Amino acid sequence: MVIPADFLVIGSGIAGLSFALKAAKKGTVALISKRDSFESSTSYAQGGIASVLGEGDSFESHLRDTLEAGAGLCRREVVEMVVKDGPERIKELSQWGVRFTLSGGDEEKPSYDLGKEAGHSQRRIVHAADLTGKEIERALLEAASQEKNIVIYEYHIAIDLLTSSRFSKTVDRDRCLGAYVLDIRKGEIHTFLAKVTMLAAGGAGKVYLITSNPDIATGDGIAMAYRAGARIANMEFIQFHPTCLFHPQAKSFLISEAVRGEGGILRLKDGSPFMKAYHPLKELAPRDIVARAIDNELKKSGEQCVFLDITHRDGSFIKDRFPNIYQKCLSLGIDITQEPIPVVPAAHYLCGGVVTDLYGETKIKGLYACGEVAHTGLHGANRLASNSLLEAIVFANWAYLKAGAELSGIDIPSGEIPAWDVGKAVDSDESIVVAQNWDEIRRFMWNYVGIVRSTKRLARAQRRIEILQEEISNYYWNFIITSDLLELRNIATVADLIIRSAMIRKESRGLHYNLDYPNRDDRNWCKDIVIEKG
Ligand code: FAD
Ligand code: SIN
Repeated sequence: MVIPADFLVIGSGIAGLSFALKAAKKGTVALISKRDSFESSTSYAQGGIASVLGEGDSFESHLRDTLEAGAGLCRREVVEMVVKDGPERIKELSQWGVRFTLSGGDEEKPSYDLGKEAGHSQRRIVHAADLTGKEIERALLEAASQEKNIVIYEYHIAIDLLTSSRFSKTVDRDRCLGAYVLDIRKGEIHTFLAKVTMLAAGGAGKVYLITSNPDIATGDGIAMAYRAGARIANMEFIQFHPTCLFHPQAKSFLISEAVRGEGGILRLKDGSPFMKAYHPLKELAPRDIVARAIDNELKKSGEQCVFLDITHRDGSFIKDRFPNIYQKCLSLGIDITQEPIPVVPAAHYLCGGVVTDLYGETKIKGLYACGEVAHTGLHGANRLASNSLLEAIVFANWAYLKAGAELSGIDIPSGEIPAWDVGKAVDSDESIVVAQNWDEIRRFMWNYVGIVRSTKRLARAQRRIEILQEEISNYYWNFIITSDLLELRNIATVADLIIRSAMIRKESRGLHYNLDYPNRDDRNWCKDIVIEKG
């Protein structure tokens, strides 16, 4: 089937939905989501959105904190524009129905309760208790359901982007025409054609064995954009969140940085605090430093986790401020008002991604990227906490302004694009191969390309990913594709991009730490690592 629309949006997190809500004012929107539309990293966000709204705070201060965390690689003009646009976008989210926690005021003039997180010199995190993402996702999906111009296709997974150069060798600048999409439930492949394609497919935490990310985070957007010829930058900068719950029954449950913001202390098994030895800001040092400190303590002691202790705060404050974390831990037998929480670092956020201009457009005309999939220049070598939801809403707006303005001059691509060719592919009877390859990649990425790297470990990882990519590529073309196979291929591509970028950067900066090059080298490496196909 061919499905035409003015806008094709890939992803139903904060980036895709906030763009779609605006785009719907200008034309028809087909929004695809590979699972249930609620399922996204957005839905799990806890801490909140950084924005300058507090008395005594300033754009200069947010700018300074972001640049400081970014370790020399942020694009200053992007940071400036994003922090200045923040308050307006928070207002817009409220108008779409997001109920943030207030400390006073009313709907007309709300006074937001502002949280504190590491790296921020001020209280500036707008939140909805510790369920910020769930509240945002609820409100945006509700708003989208009211828009007659938006059609949401759930359980539809984009396979590959369609670009003009794929069908004609004589194009000046390649243009995106839409995507081939697998309807997972029916097993049918459709051709979605659009004037504008917004890639909002989120991050890639599932490349690693231990991650805070939900199962959808398989880097599909990055892999598709790379295959289509877009530029991919700074993939070596993987952010590891210092505190994920360590418990055999807790799959990927985050203990928000806001817990440390409200005084949480990191302790070893014997109860001794250890962050003083690593940074003067102790628990509120930048994330990369806290994650490396924990990693180091675990390697020294051979223990499996450290502990985050907030028991010195009043029990009713803890339950009120962190209802989700309190309940989740209690359900696993941990009363956080009485005992410290076992935690470990986990892969959390991808700072690199598909390179965009100031309006979210990529090198491929008509292909925009927004949210975690994108590399806009905001985060540099290390994202400041709660700046990612902010980046998503700000760039969704700018992308809408550019794409919306250009829409009338473009036609929806016509039907000469061929339908997906299944060729001689047959049903696979070997799904164990997919499971085995998937597990292998995630394990060596954790062990060899994790928080602390070395040239030897990276070379090992490279050898393995080369073999696996060949195997996956053979498998891919022989068997009828499934979402598992698509995700495996994408994970392998993203792993390869991370390894290659990490091998190129011969220094340590921000989130990339290589034992063989332990120092930051501004003379040679104060630049982005950009990879393009071919
Ligand atoms: P997502 O919200 O991840 O949405 C991606 C969408 O794309 C999903 O709908 C997915 O199904 C879809 N998709 C993916 N591939 C395909 C495909 N091939 N075809 C079709 N659909 C596809 N950031 C903050 O700023 N503050 C926080 O407090 C915060 N807390 C966090 C807590 C957790 C546990 C996690 C995991 C992240 C947190 N982050 C936080 C990071 C932030 O939540 C994410 O960066 C952000 O939500 C990403 O939004 P997005 O719209 O880009 O992607
Ligand atoms: C958290 O709540 O700790 C997550 C914040 C973020 O990733 O920005």
